[in-house]
Amino acid sequence: MYDIGVDLGTSAVKLLLVDGDGKIINSVSKEYPLYFPHPGWSEQNPEDWWNAVREGLAELTEGVDKSLIAGLGCGGQMHGLVALDENDNVIRPAILWNDGRTEKQVDYLNNVIGKEKLSAYTANIAFAGFTAPKLLWMKENEPENFARIARIMLPKDYIVYKLTGVHSCDYSDASGMLLLDVQHKRWSREMLDICGVTEAQLPTLFESYDVVGEMLPEIAGQFGFGPVKVVAGAGDNAAAAIGTGTVGEGRCNISLGTSGTVFISSKRFGVDGNNALHSFAHADGHYHLMGCMLSAASCNKWFCEEILGSGDYAALQKEITPAKLGHNRVFFLPYLMGERSPINDVNARGAFIGLSMDTTRADMVQAVLEGVAFALRDSVEKARELGIAVNASNICGGGAKSPLWKTILANVLGLRLDTVKTEEGPGYGGAILAMIGRGQYQTAEEACAALVSVTDSVTPDPALTALYEKQYQRFRRLYPALKDTFAAIKED
Ligand code: XUL
Repeated sequence: MYDIGVDLGTSAVKLLLVDGDGKIINSVSKEYPLYFPHPGWSEQNPEDWWNAVREGLAELTEGVDKSLIAGLGCGGQMHGLVALDENDNVIRPAILWNDGRTEKQVDYLNNVIGKEKLSAYTANIAFAGFTAPKLLWMKENEPENFARIARIMLPKDYIVYKLTGVHSCDYSDASGMLLLDVQHKRWSREMLDICGVTEAQLPTLFESYDVVGEMLPEIAGQFGFGPVKVVAGAGDNAAAAIGTGTVGEGRCNISLGTSGTVFISSKRFGVDGNNALHSFAHADGHYHLMGCMLSAASCNKWFCEEILGSGDYAALQKEITPAKLGHNRVFFLPYLMGERSPINDVNARGAFIGLSMDTTRADMVQAVLEGVAFALRDSVEKARELGIAVNASNICGGGAKSPLWKTILANVLGLRLDTVKTEEGPGYGGAILAMIGRGQYQTAEEACAALVSVTDSVTPDPALTALYEKQYQRFRRLYPALKDTFAAIKED
C-alpha cells in the first residue's frame, strides 16, 4: 500500500509517496507565488495551490502501480482565510498566517472584548495572523465580499474540499482560527457571534486521522487512482510533530521553516496564563503549546538571495568558522513580517545592530542565523517559565539542513537537537495520519514508534552555551529599545 503526504507550505507544496513500511518512494515540490500587495500584507491564490497539488500528484505517481495508493493526508500552513461563495468560487486571495493587516481588529478583540473572555472562549488571545481578526477585517473593509461568504476554510481544507467535496477541518488547524473552543473541541458560539459568522459557514470538525471521505471519482480518475481515503490532516506544525514523532507527553519539536516554531506536546489541555504561547489541539488527539516566530528560515533566504544575490547558503556559511561562534559583534532582529510569539507586535521590523567598518558579509550571515535562534529561545523561555522542562527537541524544516545553524541553535537554546530519518516533517506527518485513518495503525503514538527514528543529534557544548548566554542577554535588550521607533516608522 502507498500513502500520499502533502505539505501545503508558503513557498511550495511538497508531496511524498510513502510505502507501508514508511519508506519514501518519491517526492515532488511545486512552487507558487506569494504576494505582498502592501507592506506587512501576505496573500496567495488558492487556485495556485490546487494547480500545484494536481501537477504534483501526477508527477509523484508517474510509473507507480496506482491501484496501491490507498490514503492521502495533508499538513498545511495554518490560519489562512480562504472564503468561497455559494458556487464554490474563491472570493478573494487567501490572507495568510504572516499577514499583519489586522492590527485594529486584534486590538478590538484583545482590548474591547478582552483577553480574559477570548481565553475563556478559545484558550487563546488574538494575534494578527489568526483567522477571526481577518474575518472582522473583511467585514469592515470588504463588506460586499464578506456578504458573499458561503464557506470559510483553511488552506489545506481547500485542497481536501477539492479532492473529496467535503468541507472539513481538523482540531489542530481549527485551533488557530480563534473560533474554536480548544478544550472542548467545538466551535465557540460566542466567537462566531463576535465575528458575525454562522456554524453553517464553517467546516465539519474531525480528528486529524479521521477519514473525511474518499477522493471524488472524477479527480481520482484524472490520475488513474482507485479509491483513495482522505484524512482531515493537520496544521503544518501538528503534522510536523507527527512526522518527527513528537507525540504524547512533554515532547518538543522545533520547525525551522518559513516560520519558526517551538511545539510542545501534552496529553493534558493547558493554557499559558501569559498568552505568549498558543494553546492548540494536537493531531495525535491530545493538545500542545506552541510559540511561533513569523520569519525564521525566510530571514536567511531573504538576506542571502535578495540582499547578497546568492542562493548558495552553504557557501555563504563556509566562512563562519567554529571560532567565530559566540563572539559576533553584529546582532540581527528577525522581525521582517512583524512578530507573533512572544512579543505580538505587527509593527516590529528587522534590524542589524553593531555594524562597523570591519564587519564582514560572513558576520552578517552569522547574525541572521543567530538572531533567529535568539528569537526562538524567547519562546523556549516562555515554556520554561511555565515550569515545562525542555531538555531536548526534535528539529525539522529547511533551516535544519544546515549543520551550522543546528549547532548555533543547540547552543543558544542549551538543548540537544535530534534530527529524524525523514526530515520532511509535515508531509511525512500527513502520510502517517493517512496510515492511521485507513487502519494500519491505531494511534499516532503507535505509528510514530514504528516509523520514526532519530538519525543524528547535536549536543550543546557548555563553553559555547555560556558564550551564547551572554549574547542572548544582549539580544533581549534590543527589541524593547527599538519598539517605539518601529511604531513611529509605521505611522509615517
Ligand atoms: C503557526 C504559523 C506558521 C504557519 C506556517 O501558528 O502561523 O507556522 O503554519 O506555515
